[in-house]
Amino acid sequence: MNIQLQKDLLRLVIEKDLQITTDAIRLISEQKNPKKALENSIRKLEANEFLLTTTHFTKTQSISERKIGSPFKTEVSIIQNFTKTPYVDDLQTISDFFRARYNHFKKVLSPRTNNTMSLAHAEKAKGEKCSLIGIVSDKRVTKNSVILELEDPTGVLKTITTSPEANKQAESIVLDEVIALEGSMGDDIFFTNNIIQPDLPTGRHMKKLSDSSYVAFLSDIHIGSKKFLRKEFKNLLEWFNSDVESDMQREITDNINYIFIAGDLVDGIGVYPNQKDGLYETDITKQYTEAAKLLSKIPENIEIIICPGNHDYTHLAQPQTPLTKDIAPELNELNNITMVSNPSLVNIHTSDGGGLNTLLYHGTSIDTIIASDKTFKEGYKHPEIVMLALLKKRHLSPIYSSDLVTSGQDSMVIPSDIDIFHTGHVHSNGAMNYRGVTMLNSGTWQGKTDFQELCGHEPTPGNLPVINMKSREMQLINFYKNESTRI
Ligand SMILES: [Fe+2]
Ligand SMILES: [Fe+2]
Repeated sequence: MNIQLQKDLLRLVIEKDLQITTDAIRLISEQKNPKKALENSIRKLEANEFLLTTTHFTKTQSISERKIGSPFKTEVSIIQNFTKTPYVDDLQTISDFFRARYNHFKKVLSPRTNNTMSLAHAEKAKGEKCSLIGIVSDKRVTKNSVILELEDPTGVLKTITTSPEANKQAESIVLDEVIALEGSMGDDIFFTNNIIQPDLPTGRHMKKLSDSSYVAFLSDIHIGSKKFLRKEFKNLLEWFNSDVESDMQREITDNINYIFIAGDLVDGIGVYPNQKDGLYETDITKQYTEAAKLLSKIPENIEIIICPGNHDYTHLAQPQTPLTKDIAPELNELNNITMVSNPSLVNIHTSDGGGLNTLLYHGTSIDTIIASDKTFKEGYKHPEIVMLALLKKRHLSPIYSSDLVTSGQDSMVIPSDIDIFHTGHVHSNGAMNYRGVTMLNSGTWQGKTDFQELCGHEPTPGNLPVINMKSREMQLINFYKNESTRI
């Protein structure tokens, strides 16, 4: 028995104005890393609890013990992360930004088109069958066709669809995306019979890992809002600690290795007019302190990856840089939290055949896409419709607006090597598989706000999507009704 160690542990407990039983201090002193185990257990005490017992300690440590022996390491590798914002609002920078976008997608589209001409060249090739690649600078829908104006470094050209198929393809095209058109040149106008989007390569298969462990997805928790669903969220935290009765759910909770949080962790302050009236905590640093207190109850062996959203304390322009220590010190101190930018690309479980790549994006552009065309009118109810459109455009925020950081690169391009595409923002769950990618929106942990009531939005709060990395099946666990659905 190490008396000195037990004295040191006791001192730690007394410093925190807490008490501990003799059995608990003996049990903790026998752990591999006693000080860390004690700190972890203290963090998980409720505000009204002051006595640390063996029961409390065992409950908070049990999952770690169960998971020892897995052949795979819990690993998080950041592949793409934007930690600086080189925002320069001048014409040259905006021009460089669009040139970078055009050049990137030209490389993607060129191998899939025939007799591709620059717009200036095509204008002089009357009657010739050819292909064009350009940025959409205008879109008009007439009774029988869609008129798209294309732009490339050589000029601008008007195009018109000439078939029902091309009309259908043009429905989901939005301003500023890069597309290829196939057809023929007429008098000052190009006749389009086929539209090609960058899209993901065909024939992609869903990657399945060997390890049957799970990833969980959260977003839009909105801590600080009077509508924050504290009770349901606390149930969720207990669930992560394997406090469940059903064997099926215990199989999941015992094997969760990763949690992604896609922004709007807190409600923030000053995000929209009169927001203050809807807050129970108006100090954003205190909102983050509470977030740290809550997330610290998640077992330490589960890695948590967090990107910011438009309610978080970082600049609004995308890409948004990760939440820093200055604003969220307690969160940044938690050993199992990785802060990343919005968007970011993160690889998990690397030692298991290279792991899975998750594209994490809060999803603010979903609003602009829904507003752009009636094709997306169901987007708030079914965000996966918009996510599919973004995936086909291979761009997270194609419509240009001042909330995009313009620089020599286009940071919002969607890479081809992704397995999971995770968004939030619209507060509605949605999921779909497409060409080996699982797209999902993780809903919210905030009740319906007055603003959502006004807009007619129907949020789906209290649902947790989880994916099994071996089968790649998804389940939605409902913490309102205490039930799960396989989707
Ligand atoms: Fe939100
Ligand atoms: Fe949001």
